[in-house]
Amino acid sequence: MAFLKTLKRTHRCGSLRKEHVGQNVVLMGWVNSRRDHGGLIFIDLRDRDGFVQIVLNPALEATKSAPDFRGEYVVALQGVVRARPEGMTNKKIGTGEIEVEATRCEILSQADTPPFQTDDPKVSETLRLKYRYLDLRSPRLQSHLVMRHKAVQVVRNYLANEGFLEIETPILYKSTPEGARDYLVPSRVNQGSFYALPQSPQTLKQLCMIGGLDRYYQIARCFRDEDLRADRQPEFSQIDMELSFVDQDDIMAINEGLLKKIWKETLDITVTEIPRMTFFDVMNKYGSDKPDLRNPLELRDVSKSASGQGFKVFDDVAARGGAIKALAVPNVALFSRSRIDKLTDTAKNMGAKGLVWLKDENGTITSSVSKFFSPEALAKIWAEGGGIKGGAMFIVADDFDPCCAALSTLRNELGRELKLIDEKAFKFLWVIDFPLLEYDGDNKRWAARHHPFTMPQDHQLQIMLDRDEKQYPTLLAKAYDLVCNGYEIGGGSMRIYKREVQAAMFEALGMSEAEVKLKFGFFIEALSYGTPPHGGIAWGVDRLAMLLCGTDAIRDVMAFPKTSKATDLMAEAPSEVSREQLIELGIRLAASLEKKP
Ligand code: AMO
Ligand code: AMP
Repeated sequence: MAFLKTLKRTHRCGSLRKEHVGQNVVLMGWVNSRRDHGGLIFIDLRDRDGFVQIVLNPALEATKSAPDFRGEYVVALQGVVRARPEGMTNKKIGTGEIEVEATRCEILSQADTPPFQTDDPKVSETLRLKYRYLDLRSPRLQSHLVMRHKAVQVVRNYLANEGFLEIETPILYKSTPEGARDYLVPSRVNQGSFYALPQSPQTLKQLCMIGGLDRYYQIARCFRDEDLRADRQPEFSQIDMELSFVDQDDIMAINEGLLKKIWKETLDITVTEIPRMTFFDVMNKYGSDKPDLRNPLELRDVSKSASGQGFKVFDDVAARGGAIKALAVPNVALFSRSRIDKLTDTAKNMGAKGLVWLKDENGTITSSVSKFFSPEALAKIWAEGGGIKGGAMFIVADDFDPCCAALSTLRNELGRELKLIDEKAFKFLWVIDFPLLEYDGDNKRWAARHHPFTMPQDHQLQIMLDRDEKQYPTLLAKAYDLVCNGYEIGGGSMRIYKREVQAAMFEALGMSEAEVKLKFGFFIEALSYGTPPHGGIAWGVDRLAMLLCGTDAIRDVMAFPKTSKATDLMAEAPSEVSREQLIELGIRLAASLEKKP
């Protein structure tokens, strides 16, 4: 290691520019590519900042190891920066106007031929995940991690300026209800007992408020054992915060300021006022509580014109108080019969029982249900649904939720297909006034829509205290979600800070006194020792980074993500453990899982 002892790296490869011409530099990095040209060897040397072209003359004593350089070898070089000759410049890369003429070089580390080229688009994700450290060398993933880092730095600075303390909370803890399954950790010292990894630091951050810390934040790791999707990982990070002596508007204002700062400092984009809509309005208009507002398509209610005409499907839904909603789209020419069949399948996959279509063909409205409606009746539906000249309309009749789910999926799909979405734009939205509770038909009980610590709206507090179950469907929460381009990037609420309200809430959720005591006894007790009014929010760091990086896969913005089966292909986690370890923990596997000797 003669080189490292005597010379220190002076620059990163990708940082060299014309102003460095004439300077003596020391670079270290990976051999990205190599070309031999009439006695001279050209290599592209790569590091986190990019590439630079190096010219080596193996005839010189100090650079005689150059012919041994292979792809992905780690090398050190000393040399002089010079301008590339006229006509040899490459405007596409930052270092394209210069090259480094090596005066000395050394191999620091050899490399076997890697299992894939990082820039090869044909390589499977499985192979990339198995060799994640090689994939991390790709400029794309590196730029994502740099972006993520920048965003988190902005967050830290901003929140520190707003008087927040960064406080760490335990990972080995007790169940925190956020609606997913817990990851459990067996205790060796207390055999038969388990820690739960936090689904979020929800109770802990509230305890920080009771503890008088006033403003807390943490870049918190959360663990949720749930079905994974493109924007969900079993462990992920939150920008988690909690504030005392504030109301909902204060929290939203601070977070709006944070959002503006992040977009300005990472992407140099000025975000203006963020609109607010109530949950019921967004559901009615977009069919989703995290609508992509870049998409101009909207849902309309057509129950007036569509029911009472003798079409049983619509009439039955109207009679039971369900929803009949329409999605009008432009450019009917795109809709072949088979395309419409596919859209019907999409709607059915989302729970719809069918899909009715209408089309404007040269001024005449045709429909899949023409035989049930007169031309005048179809024209009325077309008008009520906001039909577009030369366009089509899709109608779903069902209970409100499945109707919304089906049409919002079509809205997303068609918005993309018809190229109605400006992929470069960012459209933000605050969704407020969520229902406090939702009925869980499977378990026949009420569940908290956000979490059980969320406060009902002030004027409805008495309903909760009176245990007036009939009114539960009307209860609204002091809760708010921050939405961007179809993703929920954050969600929070004002919290219950009175012991009797919290007890009423647990009761509303069907929890027995014994169950409450077991799970949240410590928390209920804490509420009785002087709890400030407080509230908070948590942003998904990974989702935030996805948006800033313009990718739609959460794996692209995490250094070591897991697969959709919650496994790590590189380290092969989770994995079996030895019998001895299990014995120590007092655990025996089910007979079906025992390894045969
Ligand atoms: P919530 O459950 O809404 O709220 O989570 C807050 C934000 O975390 C992100 N998120 C996820 N990101 C990646 N993978 C996941 N599996 C995942 N689950 C959630 C989302 C989401 O908006 N304690 C409350 C916050 C509060 O009330 O202050 C909570 O955790 O971007
Ligand atoms: P059916 O009477 O079930 O054959 O349905 C007649 C037409 O209505 C078909 O085109 C179905 O796709 C459509 N359809 C059935 N149920 C619904 C529904 N709930 N919402 C919208 N369209 C439906």
